[in-house]
Amino acid sequence: MDTGLINFFWVRQKMRYIMILALAGFISAPAIASMELSDKYECTDCHKLNVKPGAERKKKEGPSYTEIAKEYKGKAGVDKKLVDHIKNGSKDVWAKKLGHKTHMDAADDMPVKDAQAMVKWILSL
Ligand code: HEC
Repeated sequence: MDTGLINFFWVRQKMRYIMILALAGFISAPAIASMELSDKYECTDCHKLNVKPGAERKKKEGPSYTEIAKEYKGKAGVDKKLVDHIKNGSKDVWAKKLGHKTHMDAADDMPVKDAQAMVKWILSL
């Protein structure tokens, strides 16, 4: 058999494999949330990754992501609730812990998919 032809098929096979891997990487990328998403939707204006105990906060500032994770991690159905609070806003859930009235406006500009990715990331902290 012509080795050139075998080579051609071998390369084609490899190329297909590489394309599938590249495509898989591309598809799964938006699901990986991080501070980047937080910055993109300006959540970082009010949420830090971490706040030292007793540190002063801006008045509008919400709980840090690690505080949110600590509060809810492992609780059933909490991801749906948090996505709902991000999308529709939330009021006074954290008032007692932060020591004053609290409210967060609805994040209308954030697609549900990104809100879900944010919550998944927060709960993984
Ligand atoms: C103007 C300030 C501000 C911005 C901007 C903001 N948040 Fe908040 N966030 C808060 C405050 C304050 C709270 C506490 C609300 C409460 O006590 O009900 C909060 C609460 C939360 C909670 C916890 C909700 C709960 O039920 O415990 C999550 C999760 C959250 N924010 C995520 C986000 C994400 C994601 C964004 C960006 C799309 C965002 N926040 C933008 C101020 C903000």
